[in-house]
Amino acid sequence: FKHDIFTGRNVLITAGPTREDIDPVRFISNHSSGKMAYALAEAAVEAGARVTLVSGPVSIDKPGRVKTIDVISAQQMHDAVQENIEGVDIFIGCAAVSDYRPVEILKDKIKKDPNNTEEILELKLVRNPDIAASVAALDNPPFVIGFAAETRNVIEYAANKMQKKGMNMIVANDVSDKSIGFSSDVNEVTILAEGLQKTLPRASKKVLARKILSVASRGYHKWKRE
Ligand code: C5P
Repeated sequence: FKHDIFTGRNVLITAGPTREDIDPVRFISNHSSGKMAYALAEAAVEAGARVTLVSGPVSIDKPGRVKTIDVISAQQMHDAVQENIEGVDIFIGCAAVSDYRPVEILKDKIKKDPNNTEEILELKLVRNPDIAASVAALDNPPFVIGFAAETRNVIEYAANKMQKKGMNMIVANDVSDKSIGFSSDVNEVTILAEGLQKTLPRASKKVLARKILSVASRGYHKWKRE
């Protein structure tokens, strides 16, 4: 791991889950811990970058020497990214963004049906903006790196996702294996880019973060020259 691969570069990383309120006491979210993204932020600082971290609600310590912007919902994460994207050289979408949010946030707590006869409660959801895809679609986009958590056909689905979202590189991991991913301290990933498929064996998220950035820097500098 070289300490100058991102010297002078601006890196923006999304982290953690998003939280979509249903009513004043309930929300929809997911199991993302933010560990992978925070490890990437630390490694990017070590690599010489100026790092902005746009983070959903997580319970881990903030990395040092990083500008962290705390957000809750996907819409807030989207807006914070758009407000801070100017001058960004490398965007890393590591957040597990909720794909949908409730159509409306109810002002009052949802009450059980008074007669207790209804077994089904329907919740209407609307799609959230795709943060990474909207960055890749900018006029003068940064190098965009995404993450793909899959339970089957990992490589194929990740490759499709990268193409569909206009990403330059994608880091795929198999979340059907409970010992890796999400809250775990270790992970095992395959990096895909045009003409590249590289599997990084099981390691701590800290070690993987450095390896991912080494591969990413080669991709970034090649892309920059084209
Ligand atoms: O489609 P899927 O959620 O599996 O794609 C994962 C990748 O897309 C991740 O890089 C994630 O951060 C990004 N993403 C996003 N905004 C969304 C959904 C996913 O930036 N609304």
